[in-house]
Amino acid sequence: LTKDRYPNMKRGKFAELQGSHIQHFINLLGPTRVLTDPNDVEPYNIDWIKVVRGYSGIVLKPKTTQEVSEILKFCNSERLAVCTQGGNTGLVGGSVPVFDEVILSMSLMNKVIDINPLSGTLICEAGCVLENLDSALEEHNLMMPLDLGAKGSCHIGGNISTNAGGLRLIRYGSLHGSVLGVEAVLANGDVMDVLNVLKKDNTGYHLRHLFIGSEGTLGVVTKASIHCPPRPKALNLAFLGTDSFKNVLNILQLAKSCLSEILSSCEMIDDPSISAVIRNLGVNSPIGQFPFYVLIETSGSHTAHDEEKLNAFLEKAMAESYVLDGTVTNEPSRMQVLWQLRERIAEALLKDGPVYKYDVSLPVEHFYGIVPLLQEKLRGTSAEIVTGYGHIGDGNVHLNITSKFYDQDLVHDVIEPFVFKWVADHNGSISAEHGIGFKKTEFLHYSKKPGAIALMKQMKTLMDPNGILNPYKVLPED
Ligand code: FAD
Ligand code: MLT
Ligand code: ZN
Repeated sequence: LTKDRYPNMKRGKFAELQGSHIQHFINLLGPTRVLTDPNDVEPYNIDWIKVVRGYSGIVLKPKTTQEVSEILKFCNSERLAVCTQGGNTGLVGGSVPVFDEVILSMSLMNKVIDINPLSGTLICEAGCVLENLDSALEEHNLMMPLDLGAKGSCHIGGNISTNAGGLRLIRYGSLHGSVLGVEAVLANGDVMDVLNVLKKDNTGYHLRHLFIGSEGTLGVVTKASIHCPPRPKALNLAFLGTDSFKNVLNILQLAKSCLSEILSSCEMIDDPSISAVIRNLGVNSPIGQFPFYVLIETSGSHTAHDEEKLNAFLEKAMAESYVLDGTVTNEPSRMQVLWQLRERIAEALLKDGPVYKYDVSLPVEHFYGIVPLLQEKLRGTSAEIVTGYGHIGDGNVHLNITSKFYDQDLVHDVIEPFVFKWVADHNGSISAEHGIGFKKTEFLHYSKKPGAIALMKQMKTLMDPNGILNPYKVLPED
């Protein structure tokens, strides 16, 4: 680990951490919530896929909005850069420092403040773990409107800051719809309270949206209010094998028309992805081997009604030979096993070595097009497996390339120019749900016009004039 491991990056003109700064933080939080021992700080410097790492010497763990406010006020006046961290499951290097930024861990701000079963609203602190929130809602017959493989670690504040999509966006929509309000601390320490719980409120600019998807560059989310749907009484999961991508599209179209309002997830997995889960994690597939698999989940309020619809869909899909084999279950433990085949792909691929990850949106007919092209292009290089899986119902494919070692030249000179140009040429987005973070800033122009990037920069300057909040992230260098 060297301080110049990003040769093209220059550290911003921020102050370096001094003993007096540390003392100030200890006075504010007490000694146990200020980590400076390198062994304690190390995990916070490294991202989930272990390709981005900073060398921060300090982690701060506030427990209240007031403490976050005091920290930012001080950092702003001292020109100390800050990297806010939630569950550190982000996949674009946004959650860890690039250089020596102060790490602001939200993990102790983890209280549920209110659950209102009548309006279906939740108010909580930003550091609550997504899965814990879902469990807390269960006893009120409510659920979180989003679900993702990282649910056991990611925070709702991290989800909001990345505008996380996940496995059920097809049914419950994006967080721009579900998040009713936020409380956020601005760079100068001011608390922006737009913690609305109303579903309708057209009183001028909708400020909460500035914090949804801005990846910790415009403020620190400290609380959120969320619209939570009723927990379904009837759940079914079908795991289907098919022979071609064309038939994956046929399954999607048929599922939408036959299942409509009860369709709650439609995910696609290719054979190399599922093989990695089976090989590296020992999870078994309940059906034979196929080029493609589709997971279809239904959620509703009436078991017989949902099963009737699902059966009609399956009969038709088999009769048309869209589906060659499959299994269906409504048993919770079997559903959990089936979900692992999809949710644990990222973890399984990492076991083979470094993974180059591209999370792109495409018109659905082009969803898988880039995978075979890249498989061909990378033949004979250091790249090993090229896979595609993801949220087919939302046109969001996860293109993953595994390699035995990190081949910087291959990534920089071959893969990235090809992937991003292909995506832009097919009217896609270079980031569907993971964000821009640290890794994708130089490619932002593929998906945003110069005028839009200029306005983003003006907004950043307005809200964070000293640029202390998550520098080097989202916005490209001038
Ligand atoms: P972190 O990784 O800690 O941070 C992410 C970004 O948000 C950083 O820029 C950070 O500075 C900022 N941030 C965090 N908390 C705050 C806060 N309180 N205020 C301001 N800024 C903050 N993503 C999807 O969209 N869909 C998926 O299906 C999905 N599946 C995943 C599966 C796995 C196995 C893994 C490892 C990741 C997955 N992700 C997915 C990516 C990731 O989990 C999400 O982006 C998640 O929302 C990040 O939450 P986090 O708390 O871990 O945030
Ligand atoms: C997923 O849908 O599994 C995630 O977004 C993580 C990934 O891209 O691997
Ligand atoms: Zn995803």
